[in-house]
Amino acid sequence: MTEPLVQVDRHGRVGMITLNRPKQLNALNDALMDQLGAALLALDGDPEVGAIVITGSTKAFAAGADIDAMVDWSYMDVYQGGFITRNWETIRQVRKPVLAAVAGYAMGGGCELALACDIIVAAESAKFALPEIKLAMLPGAGGTQRLPRAIGKAKAMDMCLSARMLDASEADRYGLVSRVVPDAELLACTLALATQIASYSQPALAAIKESVNRAWESSLSEGILFERRELHARFASEDAHEGMKSFLAKRAPVFKHR
Ligand code: CAA
Repeated sequence: MTEPLVQVDRHGRVGMITLNRPKQLNALNDALMDQLGAALLALDGDPEVGAIVITGSTKAFAAGADIDAMVDWSYMDVYQGGFITRNWETIRQVRKPVLAAVAGYAMGGGCELALACDIIVAAESAKFALPEIKLAMLPGAGGTQRLPRAIGKAKAMDMCLSARMLDASEADRYGLVSRVVPDAELLACTLALATQIASYSQPALAAIKESVNRAWESSLSEGILFERRELHARFASEDAHEGMKSFLAKRAPVFKHR
């Protein structure tokens, strides 16, 4: 029996996916990305799951696309095989909040995978880089697009063109990560955060995720319009009425995720 390349565990309403190619620093090959995509879709479709965490090892979240696998690929191989498009973008279909818990290296595609998550919690050991230029390549899983949106053009150009590596405190200062925590507390802190998020109403979380993502992908007026529609739609939700009633009654809400 071969070891699965991703391990899936449940912690209450949180689904945790651990990338599991430790010897290769979780280099992201096709098989791993297939398994990651399948795990993400299964957890997204599970009504008992409210939030998803992706993590790696203590040494590496992921050191990027698998260079060993790519070295002899031709243009036709990647074009016809839909490299990246075929199985790396599954994460974009996920409607539930996805948190990355990053310790050690998040490089190349590993950094891009973290950037595709909704929240990044970084351990103090976390290191972020897009070093593809050293291979005469480019960040091809959203890095040239998501990084400037996250940290601005100046810092993003520096990272992409020079392969500059950011430590956790720089990544925090530049807005690449949401929180930095001691290494020993990474999983517990991320799990606590994910558990808190998962306790809220699922449709409201999905509406917020969609609305914040609109801020990246549309004009301000389109984004505001989308947000307003999402707000109005909350009034069709049982949970929103329950949330407001429970506040007024000074009791805990009981959400049905409807
Ligand atoms: N692909 C394949 N194998 C990798 C890998 C990768 N991206 N990163 C690390 N490994 C392998 C190494 O080859 C090594 O294997 P062996 O033990 O068989 O020699 C093993 O993992 C351990 O790595 P190192 O010995 O290099 O560990 P280190 O601690 O000295 O260095 C590191 C760590 C700085 C992360 C270094 O491994 C490194 O620079 N890795 C490559 C990072 C990179 O260039 N990523 C971008 C890939 S391209 C990409 O991602 C394209 C895209 O946008 C989709």
